[in-house]
Amino acid sequence: MSLTHPNHNSDNMESKTSSCIVLLSLAISLVLFQMASAGDPDILTDFVFPLDVLSVDASYFTFSGLRGLIGAPPPEKFKGTNSSVTEFPALNGQSISYAILQYPAGSVNAVHSHPCSSELLFLVSGTLEVGFIDTTNKIFNPTLQTGDIFEFPKGLVHYQ
Ligand SMILES: *[C@@H]1O[C@H](CO)[C@@H](O)[C@H](O)[C@H]1NC(C)=O
Repeated sequence: MSLTHPNHNSDNMESKTSSCIVLLSLAISLVLFQMASAGDPDILTDFVFPLDVLSVDASYFTFSGLRGLIGAPPPEKFKGTNSSVTEFPALNGQSISYAILQYPAGSVNAVHSHPCSSELLFLVSGTLEVGFIDTTNKIFNPTLQTGDIFEFPKGLVHYQ
């Protein structure tokens, strides 16, 4: 068989085409793998502190930014007060954060999701309708009573 046989080029094209298909599916599976592993990477030290700080003491692990909420009158509209890595740098790399959410009657924390984390909500006072939708479009929307804890699974669209 000569190298210039017409079938040779077409065989070569088929083999190039199947190489492309293999590369394409590899690329897709890498993307899916990245999506499936979305979340904070594990840190390699006990905790993380800023590069310009030589050492930390107990105050680094104490967040006092919520003190003002204790005993304060309720807000007039929905209010979230965060204690996340932005406000509390000791949380860096710990895969956890905290928030106080206050819902005057009739207010709502609009539909949203957290791609990298699930959420545990503890209802301290009152009743609260909450809800999330799973990937089969099923809605789970109970009305919580004071003292209930509700879990919003990671990445699912939810509201309160
Ligand atoms: C609090 O955290 C939530 C979730 O990350 C964010 O959407 C919101 O903007 C934050 N609020 C403030 C005041 O930073």
